[in-house]
Amino acid sequence: MIVTVASFKGGVGKTTTALHLAAYLQSDAPTLLVDGDLNRSALQWASKGNLAFQVCDEAQAVKHSRKAEHIVIDTPARPSIEELATLAGGCDLMVVPTSPDALAMGAMLQMVEHLDAQTFKILLTLVPPRPNQSGEDAKRALESEELPLFSASIRRLEVFKKAALEGVPVNQVKGDRMSGIAWECYRQVGDEVLNHGE
Ligand SMILES: Nc1ncnc2c1ncn2[C@@H]1O[C@H](COP(=O)(O)OP(=O)(O)O)[C@@H](O)[C@H]1O
Ligand SMILES: [Mg+2]
Repeated sequence: MIVTVASFKGGVGKTTTALHLAAYLQSDAPTLLVDGDLNRSALQWASKGNLAFQVCDEAQAVKHSRKAEHIVIDTPARPSIEELATLAGGCDLMVVPTSPDALAMGAMLQMVEHLDAQTFKILLTLVPPRPNQSGEDAKRALESEELPLFSASIRRLEVFKKAALEGVPVNQVKGDRMSGIAWECYRQVGDEVLNHGE
């Protein structure tokens, strides 16, 4: 399975999503995470040496991909329309993370306009806790537009920041009671990714 994670806006959880999908897919089969974003945040996450899967930049991707069953690609923000089409054509599924706020949603909607609905799936990330309704509102808006949307979404939880600092996936953060709940969000998304197209 080749999964590309792409977004128009930065800071919407693209790298966090790529990393956790790779961690999930690794439990199914050998997985490679390709850090295609020049800010190299995925490589930085991996630099502590605590990840169970390989992470490399795009220059090394071809070599490392020989050993991988699944490949997840973190891409630079703000792809052009041409880049988007190329990215979408190069994977089995494009995951498009967005936070539920109006700015991020607007940028995301502009981006997916240019994509064939078979090729991508929107993931709501950084969803704030109730009583805030923005997650529910965003879900309803996307459903009414009949856009492809993951049924699971990702809650906004501090433990994701800890995970990045510690260089681990969120399920390996020790002493935080939210780590299991946070992991469960991406586990559900990972299940949906593996079942995509079946
Ligand atoms: N679900 C989440 N809950 C809380 N913080 C998050 C979550 N997802 C990402 N973050 C934090 O938000 C910031 C941006 O996330 P990141 O994955 O780096 O986004 P991008 O790659 O789109 O720029 C980082 O500080 C990250 O730790
Ligand atoms: Mg990033």
